[in-house]
Amino acid sequence: MEIVLISDGPLSLDSPVRKLPFFFPARLIDMDKVSPHTVGEGKLAIVELLGSTDAGLTALKSSWASIAEIPVICLISQKNRREAVQAAALGKTKTMERDAPFALLLKEVKVLTGSDPNAALPRRTPEDTAAAYRNCNAFLESLCFSTVEGAKIRVKLMNECAEDLLFALNRDGLSSWLSAVHTHHSETYRHSLRVAGLAGMLAKQLGWDDEDCAEVVAGGLVHDIGKMRIPLTILDKKSKLTNEERALVDRHPVFGRDILKSRLEVPADIKRMAIQHHEFLDGSGYPNGLPGERIIPKVRLMTVCDIYTALTEERPYCESVPARSAISMMKDMGAKLDQKMVTRLAEMMLGREMGAVTRAAPAA
Ligand SMILES: [Fe+2]
Ligand SMILES: [Fe+2]
Repeated sequence: MEIVLISDGPLSLDSPVRKLPFFFPARLIDMDKVSPHTVGEGKLAIVELLGSTDAGLTALKSSWASIAEIPVICLISQKNRREAVQAAALGKTKTMERDAPFALLLKEVKVLTGSDPNAALPRRTPEDTAAAYRNCNAFLESLCFSTVEGAKIRVKLMNECAEDLLFALNRDGLSSWLSAVHTHHSETYRHSLRVAGLAGMLAKQLGWDDEDCAEVVAGGLVHDIGKMRIPLTILDKKSKLTNEERALVDRHPVFGRDILKSRLEVPADIKRMAIQHHEFLDGSGYPNGLPGERIIPKVRLMTVCDIYTALTEERPYCESVPARSAISMMKDMGAKLDQKMVTRLAEMMLGREMGAVTRAAPAA
């Protein structure tokens, strides 16, 4: 699912087109370069008419047929007669007011691309799991919104999601949750939803109290908030990342710190989980190489759940690792991870028998 954003020259700072790539994989095409080749497999075109030149518009008109197969939205200002006339002259297009609330554009994009994650949920999904999934999606979207728009993080919704998800895990089990999550169109969002479910389940298995269980679920939803500064085009890329792209993605805990440092509404441990989940207990992690004694149990648990999820989830450019191999790789990481948590995770994911085998394995 990809959206092509078409504009003539650099986008203005407040153009909604700048925000879309944080919600959907999107690619920017110059107006005079539109062709079947550049549009590729785009599912929707959004044309930003602000600042377009006559030459750009003429070029776009001449290649208009190449995007005739997909829906087109033109962003215009009704007050600007020139833009309204240009949009009408293009034909076969829906116009939207550029200054309308961004949420309206998002809603329209979801409808036109059929990418509402809740719509894809299978009918057989148990009711509590479905309710938790819908709520968690609403929270993740609001989280992206607050990152992009600078609005407050909806902590009340976050806490409700965590409680709903814990309730659903208790009632329907982790596999129902993972099946529901599997239907989400974005790999990046799937990851956070999986980590949240796994973290809640592991915390329960470790005998943590309800409050701590709920906090790690919320932490799972928020842990990669720094990635919301990185366009989904990179995060959900179907091929291997370039070195520059990889370096950008690896900065997400630092972006997370930037986003969260002034957010007084967010509890301190949630911030720690977002900023420190790539730290290792032997001090070899990033971004700060924190020593183990400064890493609290909730962060240790987040790291374990994050690594297990990253290893076992499907990726477009590499095979996922089977659960058993993922656990053994995590055992091999020895002093980097809290091995008691890894053992409990093994029991949970592989059954008690396999848990006993991994417990017997020598710690590296
Ligand atoms: Fe991460
Ligand atoms: Fe992660």
